[in-house]
Amino acid sequence: MGKRKTLISGNWKMHKDHREALHLVRDLGFRLKPEMVSEVEVAIHPPFTSLRSVQSLIEADRLPITLGAQHCYFEESGAYTGEVSAGMLASLDVRHVLCGHSERRHVFGQRDDEVARTAVAVIANGMVPSICVGETQEEREAGDTEAVVGRQLTAVLSTVGKALSGMVIAYEPVWAIGTGLAASPEDAEAAAAFIRTQVATAWGQEATEDLRIQYGGSVKPENAAEYLACPNVDGLLVGGASLEGGSFSEIVSAAVG
Ligand code: PGA
Repeated sequence: MGKRKTLISGNWKMHKDHREALHLVRDLGFRLKPEMVSEVEVAIHPPFTSLRSVQSLIEADRLPITLGAQHCYFEESGAYTGEVSAGMLASLDVRHVLCGHSERRHVFGQRDDEVARTAVAVIANGMVPSICVGETQEEREAGDTEAVVGRQLTAVLSTVGKALSGMVIAYEPVWAIGTGLAASPEDAEAAAAFIRTQVATAWGQEATEDLRIQYGGSVKPENAAEYLACPNVDGLLVGGASLEGGSFSEIVSAAVG
């Protein structure tokens, strides 16, 4: 268990044009100290329009930041106006791609099977899928959290078919995203433990050894450490608090032992 490197990811959503993105990445570069990044992997997921500029800056300044994307389409190419393929992201040195973020599922109607096909495309292009799962408020109140998370996970695990090393799964209860209503560390740990068990059942125990499970939903510098203290939580997926170098680097600091 000890060998999983904590992963702190910033999901910028639809924020920052490419100039603002460069400004934030430079600021972050100054704030991330070597002792922080030796223990913690820091990833950022800017909008598509900033990926090229951010990739160049990370490379030129050798910044210890992993480049991520927020979404892609599962087909390789074709008449899919407005979409971007996994191959296009891979050619920009993107390493992690969020698959099935709750805003993709709930605002854009992405289905479980589409999330699964996206994960397959991401893997086929040598990148790491960050599978996002989580229940809505109504589903939680109905006692369906495990049923929903289990269904979302099974769609991916059965489509990917074989154990994948290095995968990331983010547990993000929909009611906690952008609302300030963060889940309790106990709820985050219970969901993370459930996810690890589901992966063990589908792919075997070994597959869970380097599986990193993140919690996401109203993570702030003040509450980050509580989640990271949970044995099954290996990192955080941060939205709002990743849009500013100060708060995001404080969250990274909370992950340093
Ligand atoms: P939030 O978003 O931190 O702003 O709640 C988290 C996410 O959607 O990944």
